[in-house]
Amino acid sequence: MSLLIKNGEIITADTRYTADIYCEGETITRIDKNLRAPAGATVVDATGKYVFPGFIDPHVHIYLPFMGTFSKDTYVTGSQAALVGGTTTLIEMCCPARKDDALASFELWMAQAAGKSACDFTFHMGVTKFDGTTEAQLREIVRRGISSFKIFLAYKGAFGVDDTELYRTLKLAKELGVVVAAHCENETLVAERCKELLAAGRTDPGQHHESRPPAVEAEGVHHLMTFAELTGAATYIVHLSCQEALDQAIAARQRGVRVGIETLIQYLTLDKSYAEKPDFEGAKYVMSPPLRDQRNQSVLWNGIRDGLINTVATDHAPFDFEKQKPMGKDDFTKIPNGIPSLEERINLLYTYGVKTGKIDLHTMVNAASTVVAKQFDLFPRKGAIQLGADADLVVFDPSYRGKISVQTQHMNVDYSAFEGWPLEGRASVVTVRGEFAARDGKFTGTLGRGQFLQRKPSHF
Ligand code: URP
Ligand code: ZN
Ligand code: ZN
Repeated sequence: MSLLIKNGEIITADTRYTADIYCEGETITRIDKNLRAPAGATVVDATGKYVFPGFIDPHVHIYLPFMGTFSKDTYVTGSQAALVGGTTTLIEMCCPARKDDALASFELWMAQAAGKSACDFTFHMGVTKFDGTTEAQLREIVRRGISSFKIFLAYKGAFGVDDTELYRTLKLAKELGVVVAAHCENETLVAERCKELLAAGRTDPGQHHESRPPAVEAEGVHHLMTFAELTGAATYIVHLSCQEALDQAIAARQRGVRVGIETLIQYLTLDKSYAEKPDFEGAKYVMSPPLRDQRNQSVLWNGIRDGLINTVATDHAPFDFEKQKPMGKDDFTKIPNGIPSLEERINLLYTYGVKTGKIDLHTMVNAASTVVAKQFDLFPRKGAIQLGADADLVVFDPSYRGKISVQTQHMNVDYSAFEGWPLEGRASVVTVRGEFAARDGKFTGTLGRGQFLQRKPSHF
């Protein structure tokens, strides 16, 4: 297929101009004014619209066995939701249980995606133990095209690693040039505080924040930064939620530690009062780290604006309100953690970030696409509008007005954390490698066409 996108205002991380984009097959081959459509080309009129590079979500969970259940989306539903929302590439967390082997788990996660996903995808390889067999398996996984690991300093007894495992993982990552993404919360503090709260009869969803306050996250970040400093490994803090944690990461960066910082659309737009809603409604908003005091939102927006925070992700982890969240009806520690948001990240960033003047369009593109591609060895194939790049494009309509609703979402979950929120703009046309994937809130792509993106480590 050849495709001509005419008269759009092209917005990249650092340029803004009006031109036509011609895509031959899967690739952008011409960008210029007044391009003429060759016979047979499909033409999209993008007059009055922005054209962004396809957005990349660096932190999603699709197949996630977690807290005694499974997150709700599959690649069939999740990739459709992503594409309708303008996200053309997913980086999923491959999260083996501690008893499972890394290589078999990698193959299991791959089997969930290959032949099913409509968008392109890759994985952060979760390192949830480091025993005598782990190293050889991780080397093999890197040979197969993975260039990032994921570790959890939280979730004692489930995914969490101890300090010896952490040290060995970082040393191996340094040798291989792999970046290590990390969930930073002190698991011992969380476990002890949970016990204390439950013993005091404090069982409702609002207690989740009390079990892991900002100091718990800040300690996790400080902990990781010490290990990163001593090993020289490149690190990436996932879902950073608060000022205290940011301060620790920036202090480490100032002394030379290599660290990328990710925050989430949930922390930018929701606060801890949502998780305190009565009648168990707060369970919809339980995730880790928890939603924070509202004062943190401006810290995070300003951090993105000033380049201290590098990326905005979703940590998409959908669990039904009717059937799954009630696992923790009488004990908040059993509420499956996660707030679905894969479909809404870009719409929310635009409406509540760009339209309110908190960040500009270039910063949005950078944090949700270009920096992600650079950080995770996908650039310039992804994250760019330039000759030779994949024709992953989002024609975005800033004149759209609508509301978020569970009734219209594609995510396979029975609620929206943003029900009724107004939107001012949405993706109008989305392409993946030159083919249509979504139009005006509807999926129009091809299930199974999504490719596994092989990556080569660069963080030596
Ligand atoms: O609450 C969360 N974040 N759920 C998903 C698992 C994780 O920690 O990323
Ligand atoms: Zn996490
Ligand atoms: Zn996560």
